Amino acid sequence: MSDYAETLIRGRRATRAFRPDPVPEEILRAVFALAGAAPSNSNTQPWRVEVVSGAMRHRLADALRTAHAARRTTVDFPYREDMYSTEHQRRRAAFGAELYGALGIGQNDHAARAAYDAESLRFYGAPHVAFLFVTGDAGARLAADVGIYAQTLLLAMTAYGLDSCPQGLLSFYADTVRDELGLDSGKLLVGISFGYADEAAPVNHITTGRAALDTTTTFHL
Ligand SMILES: Cc1cc2nc3c(=O)[nH]c(=O)nc-3n(C[C@H](O)[C@H](O)[C@H](O)COP(=O)(O)O)c2cc1C
Repeated sequence: MSDYAETLIRGRRATRAFRPDPVPEEILRAVFALAGAAPSNSNTQPWRVEVVSGAMRHRLADALRTAHAARRTTVDFPYREDMYSTEHQRRRAAFGAELYGALGIGQNDHAARAAYDAESLRFYGAPHVAFLFVTGDAGARLAADVGIYAQTLLLAMTAYGLDSCPQGLLSFYADTVRDELGLDSGKLLVGISFGYADEAAPVNHITTGRAALDTTTTFHL
């Protein structure tokens, strides 16, 4: 049983190059039904999930690129660089070196990094993207519930043989996403691109380490 958990949890990784093949509808439905088993405070289930495919996915990618070019960003959950501690910054830098190294983009090539970010608004070529909205007052506590839903969804995808990438970047275009989907409520926490990995892409083979257990976790035995 623990082998199964090890395989499932460690088998998930952020995928940044996808094949265009769509996921069969019965698998889509099974994955999202399973993700709905996520826990939440008092079973409130404060998530609203929009799964986008096909023509709408293409329209949305175009709208995101247009918004990006016009620098038209809107965030529902404010972002500040200084929210990260020195330790966080060190981990981000190590991750960035891995990612951009695999892409052949130099450490200080800010233009190439920005171009890669812009390109990622096409969901890394994934045929589907799920947008996770927080309903209710969308405060930190409800956002935490939706974060737990997000990881449950990612693991459900892994279990069904799907690859995925959570993209916080997509949440910087909250109004564009709502407009394209015809929504007038819900705060956008994250988008998750998913489908089947292009295993030939080097970017899908980067390694991301984790902090040593005793730096994040204390056992009061
Ligand atoms: C909330 C959240 C937002 C993320 N945003 C992005 C993003 O905008 N673009 C991206 O390529 N990866 C994004 N990621 C993926 C992380 O970079 C990745 O999970 C992390 O580096 C660990 O690697 P792993 O998922 O392969 O284990 C995000 C992950 C999370 C959980």
